[in-house]
Amino acid sequence: MLGHLLHLAGIDSLIIEDRSEDYVIERVRAGVLEQGTVDLMIETGVGDRLRREGLPHDAIWINVQGERRRIDMAELTGRRITVYGQNEVVKDLIAARRQCGRPLLFEVQDVSVQDLDSKTPAVRFTKDSEAHEIRCDFIAGCDGFHGICRPSIPVHQIRIYERVYPFAWLGILANASPSSPELVYSLHERGFALFSMRSHAVTRLYLQCAPDEDLKQWPDERIWDELVTRLSSKDGWKPKVGPITQKGVTGMRSFVAEPMRYGRMFLAGDAAHIVPPTGAKGLNLAIADVWRLSRAVTDYYRSGCETALDRYSEDCLRRVWRAQRFSWWMTSMLHKSDIDNPFDWKRQLAELEYVMSSRAAMTSLAENYVGFPIE
Ligand code: PHB
Repeated sequence: MLGHLLHLAGIDSLIIEDRSEDYVIERVRAGVLEQGTVDLMIETGVGDRLRREGLPHDAIWINVQGERRRIDMAELTGRRITVYGQNEVVKDLIAARRQCGRPLLFEVQDVSVQDLDSKTPAVRFTKDSEAHEIRCDFIAGCDGFHGICRPSIPVHQIRIYERVYPFAWLGILANASPSSPELVYSLHERGFALFSMRSHAVTRLYLQCAPDEDLKQWPDERIWDELVTRLSSKDGWKPKVGPITQKGVTGMRSFVAEPMRYGRMFLAGDAAHIVPPTGAKGLNLAIADVWRLSRAVTDYYRSGCETALDRYSEDCLRRVWRAQRFSWWMTSMLHKSDIDNPFDWKRQLAELEYVMSSRAAMTSLAENYVGFPIE
């Protein structure tokens, strides 16, 4: 997206990726786009397929021990979310990149960044056994939590804030048509479960598990038993069962690195911050970061002014911390934690009862869930 926004402003960029194109296209990841993300894709000309194939959702459901309530986000906030896989977003952006003819290299190796605090930082890498060094004005570290950019910053120049959760999500993709047109977040005595989807024929479901859960212990039948138990509600709703086509375990972490800049290198997305997936914020935060970065870089080339670059980290972090707070809150409210005691469980149920019955509490959840405008 950053490459696309820079291209629209007439600014050259080179994108390098260590995975293969098939890997990034096929790896199933998040699926909820905030209205601001959808609007940005449409406004910048990469939203045609999203408009055709994305599934707009006005509401989510919260199911607590079988009692299911609908939170009508559109009615409460005037905004909605769209279900469209992150890998579909990536596919559309790769197509846009190809169309504009600017460079995008997959399967590069031995990537390192140099001279970050100079005016001409460099990126070194190997592609097809040939070594390259690119001198540039700016480096954008959009290489994820496990990437090389953040660790290239001297440790005393960056501060880390972190919380690791004592649970994870076992996620599946199934060939089963969604039995609810909207997402269902569920808390059961056996733990959290989430019903989501990718299309009219494919559902995406998650259940809370241990961080070191062994997938071999989870034959398809056990997964469905557990999902049906945790998701079914007293009004008779339950997910439809079907063949499972993908399985995986996702760890849960809250993480922020500050500032999101060192010299001429700017971090964006998961390279700088991670949220647990419960609030569906990860991809949307990354999009907001790169929108801001593209504006700051554009300003710099238009006027030589570095003010927006200097404010990049601070401006991004306001949104990041708001999403951190929300994602942590949704996660703690909807998961069963082994380290909590019976008081915490009762408090958690009281909190959910409040969220499901008070218009004020629902509105607070809804406005955070649909996301704030990108600005
Ligand atoms: C998903 O569809 O993958 C999904 C939906 C909502 C979440 C997290 C993941 O909170």
